[in-house]
Amino acid sequence: MDSFLNKFSLLVLILLVATPLALAQTKVGFYSRSCPKAESIVQATVKKHVKSNSAVAPGLLRMVFHDCFVHGCDASILIDGSNAEKTAPPNLLLRGYDVIEDAKTQLEAACPGVVSCADILALAARDATVEVGALTYKVPTGRRDGRVSLASDTSNLPSFRDSVTVQKKKFADVGLSAQDLVTLVGGHTIGTVACQFVSYRLYNFTNSGGADPTIDPSFLPTLQSLCPQNGDGNKRIALDYGSGNNFDRSFFKNVRDNRGILESDQSLWQDSTTRNFAQRFMGIRGLAGLTLNLEFGKSMIKMTNIGVKTGTAGEIRKVCSKIN
Ligand code: HEM
Ligand SMILES: *[C@@H]1O[C@H](CO)[C@@H](O)[C@H](O)[C@H]1NC(C)=O
Repeated sequence: MDSFLNKFSLLVLILLVATPLALAQTKVGFYSRSCPKAESIVQATVKKHVKSNSAVAPGLLRMVFHDCFVHGCDASILIDGSNAEKTAPPNLLLRGYDVIEDAKTQLEAACPGVVSCADILALAARDATVEVGALTYKVPTGRRDGRVSLASDTSNLPSFRDSVTVQKKKFADVGLSAQDLVTLVGGHTIGTVACQFVSYRLYNFTNSGGADPTIDPSFLPTLQSLCPQNGDGNKRIALDYGSGNNFDRSFFKNVRDNRGILESDQSLWQDSTTRNFAQRFMGIRGLAGLTLNLEFGKSMIKMTNIGVKTGTAGEIRKVCSKIN
């Protein structure tokens, strides 16, 4: 009797522990029965938009990062509203919202109420990077959409002036390692930045009267001509100098050569842990090599699983910019 009770309570315990875990999980092919065309519809939509405007590829990649760091990957970034996340300063220049809405419209026609906006964004970010040269990876799906989006909740997004310590801390807070940090910041191999986030490094950095001393002096004039003093702060320049349209490892070489564009990117070279990962991506002799293309997919899968809502949590929005 005793042993029966023990076994019984063990079973109950296992059920109690295992059930929420099983629910809080995404899986590859979640829509294979409920909406078999879901992934191909997203992919075709992304292809079409990237073809007509290549800037949407980096736009979608950055968007999923900003979604996942705030309330988990629940498409909270897509919600409209006067105090919504998208109105917060770090999100003001995000682009690609129309791509997600386009895919959503088609998915609602094909399979009404089935495919979440959060999954569309995670799939679209993958498809967009593949369009510009990244290796593909399987995106687990089954996320549901959140109902809360507040600008005041965005303070855990990393800033371009964050030290490596702060960058590592913000990533660790959502379960991402220093390796994930370096790998994912490697996403800056594509896309652009507005001069307003760069110029302060070029002319009177920390009121020194000169430029940020970590910038390669032979590169400084180039950067200054790209972002002239008192010039247009909205002008955009490549984050990966000389190779901004291709997903490749040249970003890390630029950082090694003190040609990182963002202060936060360049600082990854000053910390021995993050520098070591960057060196491994560049294939330095004597270090265990890492392949950006392979690691990127793995870290993206981790990042796009942050705080996912599955099972009965959240909802499936009908329109990605509005909660139901
Ligand atoms: C410490 C972490 C990070 C910081 C401080 C940071 C900061 C920034 C800043 C300031 C910009 C320029 C925004 C603009 O001017 O429009 C930018 C662009 C971008 N970021 Fe990051 N970022 C970080 C991590 C990431 C991660 C993890 C990803 C994705 C995996 C990512 C992907 C991108 C992309 C693709 C762009 C180009 C966007 C475009 O061209 O529209 N970033 N980032
Ligand atoms: C840099 O900024 C400081 C403080 O605003 C100012 O006193 C100084 O004149 C500036 N230097 C140059 C070269 O503009």
